[in-house]
Amino acid sequence: MNPHPLLLAPSLLAGDHARLAESAAQVQALGLPWLHLDIMDGHFVPNLTFGPETLAALRRAGNKLYFDTHLMLDDPLPYLELFARAGANNLSVHIEPAIDHRAVFARTRQLGCQCGLVLNPDTPASAIEPWLDSVDLVLVMTVQPGFGGQTFRRDMLPKLRQIDGWRRARQLGFRLEVDGGIDLATAAECKAAGADTFVAGTAFYKAPDRVAFAHAFGLL
Ligand code: DX5
Ligand code: ZN
Repeated sequence: MNPHPLLLAPSLLAGDHARLAESAAQVQALGLPWLHLDIMDGHFVPNLTFGPETLAALRRAGNKLYFDTHLMLDDPLPYLELFARAGANNLSVHIEPAIDHRAVFARTRQLGCQCGLVLNPDTPASAIEPWLDSVDLVLVMTVQPGFGGQTFRRDMLPKLRQIDGWRRARQLGFRLEVDGGIDLATAAECKAAGADTFVAGTAFYKAPDRVAFAHAFGLL
């Protein structure tokens, strides 16, 4: 049994960037509680997306979803407050940059947000092990971050099992999220490996029928 109910978090990266508020509102209209927001700095990953003003604009447009904010930044600390004020609910930072993660998590909590920790496909689970009792969410990247539409890395399943095993053994309550190449089939594989939170960009926004997709996800 997963400790958390399964959650589908559509990634706005795959939405219509000329109509981001509408793309985000479609998620809310389906009754899904979470929206995944990919923030890229052109350094940590070779791509650029949107910043805090976009989150603030979505809030002004009436969006009430839980903003699951994935910071793909070399140096997130100076930006935490901007994203928190803009309406982020959690702030997920990567383990790879040599930053003061303790300070990042302390500041995140001070700002009233939940803490997330993300690891890239080439980063072993052991890198995040010391932080497991400090975070609300662990995000296992199932593609190299930077772009939507990539192929799911099945070799990440043992990493999920390892992290889920630690969670059970230590009775920790963090969510275990996957991001990259997630569709109904790969979500089912990740669920079996312990994941409970599923980011889907392409599979959600390019689905011929999003209602049917969300419904099918609910039956996983
Ligand atoms: C990739 C991002 C993902 C992306 C997933 O760097 O972190 O959130 O939107 O896109 P799909 O679901 O298309 O792989
Ligand atoms: Zn993401």
